Amino acid sequence: MSLPKHIAIIMDGNGRWAQLKRRPRTFGHIKGTRVAKKIITDCSRRGIKNLTLYAFSTENWFRPQEEVSLLMTILRRYLRRETDNLIKENIRFSIIGDITRIPTDVREAIAKSMEATAHCTGLNLVFALSYGSRQEITDSVREIAQRVARGELAVQDIDESIINSALSTYPTPDPDLIIRTSGEQRLSNFLLWQAAYSEFYFTDVLWPNFTEHDLDQALQVFASRQRRYGRVLTNDKVEKLSN
Ligand code: IPE
Ligand code: IPE
Ligand code: MG
Repeated sequence: MSLPKHIAIIMDGNGRWAQLKRRPRTFGHIKGTRVAKKIITDCSRRGIKNLTLYAFSTENWFRPQEEVSLLMTILRRYLRRETDNLIKENIRFSIIGDITRIPTDVREAIAKSMEATAHCTGLNLVFALSYGSRQEITDSVREIAQRVARGELAVQDIDESIINSALSTYPTPDPDLIIRTSGEQRLSNFLLWQAAYSEFYFTDVLWPNFTEHDLDQALQVFASRQRRYGRVLTNDKVEKLSN
């Protein structure tokens, strides 16, 4: 079975899950974090090389202050408690997103986890935090423009690979599979450039209910897809193209 080298997940539906149980939205975020923890291990044990989890978008800052600060607390707690486990599982942790907006204590926890897991060679785990793809693309355009202004780069030399390497996701390969839970079928400002040839898997399952079985189902669907990258090719040639 062909496995994606990179899975990206839009973990959506925590609030609705809690609402169904007549509990506060934050209850859903706490359960959602436990599910994320489990899915990280499942991906790692299945030999997935890269996993990006959309944990908090640039637009999520507009949520009620109380919800935002609880999400930050959950994240800080997760990192403090889980870093040892990540090391044990040989998982390297990093983040993409606008770190400057993240509270100092959370930023410190992130830095510690990144440092402590920097030597790990198994799963490359990336949290998209305070992340927005348009912001990321804007930042990369600015960086490239500065290189041009300094005379380090000629305008005619700007190509896809220059843009690619200026993005915060570099050098992680583009996601092969993007999963979104909760029935919504949109990207919500996630990996717009990188998703050019990703396979999408949408499920109605709310993130707090997402299980290893759902992951396997997504992997099976992925394995059955034929990726053509715009060409007309036989199966084995398509396989080679993606490697
Ligand atoms: C996803 O669940 C988690 C975050 C965006 C932080 P939501 O909080 O968006 O849950 P719904 O979509 O309102 O149910
Ligand atoms: C996307 O979910 C962001 C995360 C899952 C972290 P949202 O719930 O914020 O997206 P919309 O508002 O439904 O598009
Ligand atoms: Mg949502």
